[in-house]
Amino acid sequence: SNARIGLIGLGTMGAALALNIADNGFPIAVWNRTTATTQEFHAGAGDLAGMITPTETLEELVASIAKPRAIILMVPAGQAVDDQIAALRPLLDDDDLIIDAGNANFHDTNRRADAAGDLPFLGIGVSGGEEGARFGPSIMGGGKRAYWDRVSDVLNAIAAKHDDTACATWMGEGGAGHFVKAVHNGIEYADMQMIAEVYGIMRDGMDMAPAAIGETFAAWDDGPLKSYLVEISGKVAAATDPKTGKPMLEVIVDAAGQKGTGRWTVIEAQHLAAPIPAIEAAVVARNLSSQLETRQAGEALFGAAPHHLPHDTLTLGTLEQALMAGKILCYAQGFDMIVKASESFGWALPLPEIAKVWRAGCIIRSAMLDDMATALGEDTGRNLMFAPRFATLLQENHNALRQVVAQAALHGLPLPALSSGLAYFDTMRTGRGTANMIQGQRDFFGAHGFARVDGGSGHHGPWGS
Ligand code: 6PG
Repeated sequence: SNARIGLIGLGTMGAALALNIADNGFPIAVWNRTTATTQEFHAGAGDLAGMITPTETLEELVASIAKPRAIILMVPAGQAVDDQIAALRPLLDDDDLIIDAGNANFHDTNRRADAAGDLPFLGIGVSGGEEGARFGPSIMGGGKRAYWDRVSDVLNAIAAKHDDTACATWMGEGGAGHFVKAVHNGIEYADMQMIAEVYGIMRDGMDMAPAAIGETFAAWDDGPLKSYLVEISGKVAAATDPKTGKPMLEVIVDAAGQKGTGRWTVIEAQHLAAPIPAIEAAVVARNLSSQLETRQAGEALFGAAPHHLPHDTLTLGTLEQALMAGKILCYAQGFDMIVKASESFGWALPLPEIAKVWRAGCIIRSAMLDDMATALGEDTGRNLMFAPRFATLLQENHNALRQVVAQAALHGLPLPALSSGLAYFDTMRTGRGTANMIQGQRDFFGAHGFARVDGGSGHHGPWGS
């Protein structure tokens, strides 16, 4: 009973996390539903095997951990988590801590934290894929602060480091950590979609070969767009299929999968009335991408769009600037949603700390997050697009975004996320919009009343009967 911590679920992420914990000097006991998996994992742990206690039953797992115990669950989100908690809790002491480190819906985490009552429970969002889990993920924690403090030494040790700061932060009670992870994933979707849209312009609008596209992303990764997603997009574009010798991108079907975290973010944003159109567009784009046959029928019926941009219509520099503007707008939306959720759920979500925890280890890590952390630290409630540094960047780059969206529209290249980013920007700088018409319509058909510019609310128009 000397393991510092236990871990249940030795799938890809669980196994990587367990090795990371052992590698950082914490003895760990592990258990998997299938004992063969546990044995294989232990046999493959190499030098770290001595730090790892493989166990065959939950009882044995529990008996292997030092008290008060802490056990990480790395099982698939959903019912499996509830089932695992139900099986484990009766074997534990009242002060033993269960930590759900899967991609839970934060509503489930709120519910589980409530159901746990005084029994210790944490829900932590872990980002960074397998590589991150093994060598340093970004960790977003939720639950009672005292429980976080009990394991923060382990979580800080295994987390990614930005300079010397560990990317592991307690966000608030209940599902706060999983909520922040959900917004992370929403931004992830939009960032990926915007990159894919720019790829489409290079491929279809500019006739660039995958290798040249790969080089372009690689070059951008040396500039202000420096980020993990731009970096890997360059590598994806440059890769060759070992089977056919063709560029990998040519052999991958254009129908994107999703496990649902982006969708949760969008649904929640609607409940909160938090506008995150670029993220919504990215989820919609994934849904549309799966309608492969319908799209092919559409191409047969309506004909393919012209696509090809006349020479010199857009430069790669313009594309880079457009992507920068789009990216800032997408982050601005994500952070704005966090502010709204914080108010609505009674959390005090630490915005600058969130930007900081995303600076290393996670999928959306990028150079821009440093400046975002600073900007959010100056004024937490302000939309990021109004922070001087980002306002300047938008002033410098929104015309590039406009050029790209306009040219793409003229040539039939769909840019759902970038164009919604532009519409968001233009909406946010329109002091007098067009909702007066909506209010007129609502009053006309439903006598809903409107506010007048010269004062007062609940007015009605002379629509007659
Ligand atoms: C991360 C990712 C990860 C996510 C997968 C799959 O931060 O490491 O967000 O947690 O679950 O990338 O996501 P989709 O299947 O929804 O694309």
